[in-house]
Amino acid sequence: MPSELSPIDKAKFVAAKQASSYVEDGMKVGLGTGSTAAWLVKCLGERVEKESLNIKGVPTSSRTAALAREVGIEVISLDEAKWLDLTIDGADEYDGNLNLIKGGGGALLQEKIVATASDQMIVIADASKQVETLGAFPLPIEVIPFGWQTTKTLVEETLIGMDVLGRRVSLRMNGDAPFYTDEGNHILDMHLNRIGNARQLSLVINQMPGVVENGLFIDICDVVIVGFGDGRVETR
Ligand code: 5RP
Repeated sequence: MPSELSPIDKAKFVAAKQASSYVEDGMKVGLGTGSTAAWLVKCLGERVEKESLNIKGVPTSSRTAALAREVGIEVISLDEAKWLDLTIDGADEYDGNLNLIKGGGGALLQEKIVATASDQMIVIADASKQVETLGAFPLPIEVIPFGWQTTKTLVEETLIGMDVLGRRVSLRMNGDAPFYTDEGNHILDMHLNRIGNARQLSLVINQMPGVVENGLFIDICDVVIVGFGDGRVETR
């Protein structure tokens, strides 16, 4: 373990380390995005170097692709891979049914496509990501830039009558400019506080023209590996 990690980084590292042991020689692996997933990529890079582990990685963002190459993991596209053995990624929240909110890092679209195209999805997280009910973390939705303000208004109106506690929607910014995803889209963050029916919300949001995808991952995650600041790891 790298020395002098803060408790939160230690928690992320131990979860990532444990998850890396699920990866076997010859596998095609989806590589998530974010600070926890970055530990995973580094752990896998170490195994590639020390054990001559032969894997192909499909990154879920340009950031992850750059890191994977840097640590010696062979990077291929999803279309080259066609289907993956396993995807390992972080999450912003997970509930007791292993449903997730993702997209805090703005990579939810590629993350959802890659996780869906995998035999198994393992989420790695520190213990703070566990929630009773999803929604305290703002739900990101990816929208195309054309008419995004109209899409935002329509989304806000759609939230009336949904089982949520808040309805504020904000455009994600990168300094003074709108944030752009790897796909050239914007992110709207939905401050809902509590999502009573995540499955229904996901379906309704995705029906809206202009919305590309939302950050609710329903019935996609198979296992959550939780790391703690004292180095313990638990599997859900
Ligand atoms: C990126 C994501 C990340 O997995 C999520 O935001 C968690 O990030 P971190 O591991 O840095 O807490 O969904 O789009």
